[in-house]
Amino acid sequence: MAGRIPETFIDDVLARTDLVELIDSYVHLKRTGKNYSACCPFHQEKTPSFTVSPEKQFYYCFGCGASGNAIGFLMDYTRLGFVESIETLARNLGLDVPRDEDFSQPRENHQPLFHILEAATAFYEQQLRNPKTRERPVNYLKQRGLSGQTAKQFRLGYAPQGWDNLINALGKSDTDLNHLIKTGLLIENDQGRRYDRFRDRVMFPIRDSRGRVIAFGGRVMGDDKPKYLNSPETPVFHKGRELYGLYEARQASNKIRRFVVVEGYMDVIALAQFGIPYAVATLGTATSRDHIETLFRHSEELIFCFDGDEAGRRAAWRALENALPTARDGRQIKFLLLPEGEDPDTLVRQNGKDYFEGLLDECDTLSEYFFKHLAAEVDTRTMDGRARLASLAKPHLEQLPAGVLQQLMLKRLGEITELEDIQLAAPLAAKAAPPRQADEFADYSEFEGLHSDQPPPYHDYDGESTGSGPSRSPRPKPVRRQALDKNKKRDEISLVDATIRMLLNAPRQATGLTLPDELQQLQLPRMETLLELFEFIKQKPDASTAAILGHWQNRDDSDTIFKLAAKEFLLPNDEQGPELGDAIRRLYLQKVEQDLDQIIAEGVKDKTRFKELLHLQKELSK
Ligand code: GTP
Ligand code: MN
Repeated sequence: MAGRIPETFIDDVLARTDLVELIDSYVHLKRTGKNYSACCPFHQEKTPSFTVSPEKQFYYCFGCGASGNAIGFLMDYTRLGFVESIETLARNLGLDVPRDEDFSQPRENHQPLFHILEAATAFYEQQLRNPKTRERPVNYLKQRGLSGQTAKQFRLGYAPQGWDNLINALGKSDTDLNHLIKTGLLIENDQGRRYDRFRDRVMFPIRDSRGRVIAFGGRVMGDDKPKYLNSPETPVFHKGRELYGLYEARQASNKIRRFVVVEGYMDVIALAQFGIPYAVATLGTATSRDHIETLFRHSEELIFCFDGDEAGRRAAWRALENALPTARDGRQIKFLLLPEGEDPDTLVRQNGKDYFEGLLDECDTLSEYFFKHLAAEVDTRTMDGRARLASLAKPHLEQLPAGVLQQLMLKRLGEITELEDIQLAAPLAAKAAPPRQADEFADYSEFEGLHSDQPPPYHDYDGESTGSGPSRSPRPKPVRRQALDKNKKRDEISLVDATIRMLLNAPRQATGLTLPDELQQLQLPRMETLLELFEFIKQKPDASTAAILGHWQNRDDSDTIFKLAAKEFLLPNDEQGPELGDAIRRLYLQKVEQDLDQIIAEGVKDKTRFKELLHLQKELSK
């Protein structure tokens, strides 16, 4: 098997590729000043907010936050994998992709897994046509009211009775058997015996957004347990990330007006058959933030539709909690709780498309559902109850991105509770919350500053929201912060983030600077990322912004880095030479002040150290 692609080759490919040319071959770009723009290919919009910087070889969408370099663009746009994307870029440049043969852990190639999953899908489909096996499953599907056309559209199939049908059909070689095991289609027990996972079940192939089958759900036709059996997690299937029906919905329409998120496979399929092709289902997991963001990439409206029982209400509330941080202006989130005992499948079948779409049109908005749900938990007729409502609601409202919805909901909370002036803890944008919770980049207004020649302001963070480290509680009074607070403004970002941005904008600045060792212990959000970035640039002083981003591409914190880079990339290069040194000085000062706080909290036992720190503080504050 081929080895890993050397990093130097990836750097080289990125350096030689022109991102503008690459993107322009997929999405028509228009020149706007020194950048290029287009309507974003990753979400629906009428005015272009997708921006490509030729200088930074980096793209960013101010609408949906999609961002990356050439590799990232190909991965997102064409759904190619990392390796295939590099291969494509290399091919465009007429280069052969070299491989590090001596790398002990070669990058996995998933192609054979997709291959065998496709063959299994075809096999199960075939069993639905095979006169020997078809009768029971076809009757079952008919009895559930599914048409042959719908079955075909969703590629439904049948896994026959018996332990070795799939083995016999597809397990021709040891390699094939291995792939069947890797995809979870075969189970190998402790004694090394192998057998088909899916037996005597109606099969629902689960496809990724490119339409490749990555897993299956299989339903019994009677009352056996479990009712549904799903593929296990495999290298190509991560069930917490996938949405059943998303591929089919995108096939049905290239402009999806809205999504309705339902609970079951059969709900998705029945809705599609009855003319509602925009339903998707999670795979028996709760609706995650990832799911929601994925859907918002294709449509601005999301309706959660759950059973009206206790479990459904819980699922809806959980979905709401995950949706709050994504609810930026322009997006709509609604909730439909069905009468107990009904599901979308039964409802649309009994009452038809217009009825069901009527329910979708009329259902609760996020705000309505939110207050309904909370009001059911307290007695709003009493003052205590209303106060309690306020305290229940506040932390949730703080999760909303700053914007119209947050303002309106805050106002509504004031009306319901009859409390005049409810204040949220801090504007979301100014909190150093983990990126998963707070989208600090949702607000256009903070980009406005970037168009002037002034670098955007930053302020120093006192790290209160990091909440870690023994020195945090009880928290001593800050030693002297006034000097640092003078620039504090609503939507400024933290000093650490600002420094990361400067580094990304003009990496070369870092080469002449050294970081004080003490900064290693400075506990602030993203400090580790900053240190790592600094280290990286030191080792590769010639790395461009694009090359650096390339290295962050596949990491958990890549989102943050990309977004920070985007904030900076409209600025001309090399403008902040002295700024970086200044930022480091300020960071160092923060560290010194953290230490001072701690020493004071502990009663100043080490007087020498205390004096040293005071001296340092004075020096650094100059
Ligand atoms: P039917 O209409 O009875 O075919 O099912 P449904 O599509 O209405 O599903 P239901 O509402 O009963 O369950 C919703 C989803 O939960 C299903 O689509 C499955 O993803 C999952 N699920 C239900 N039962 C089971 C089970 O027994 N095991 C597993 N793993 N998942 C299940
Ligand atoms: Mn059902």
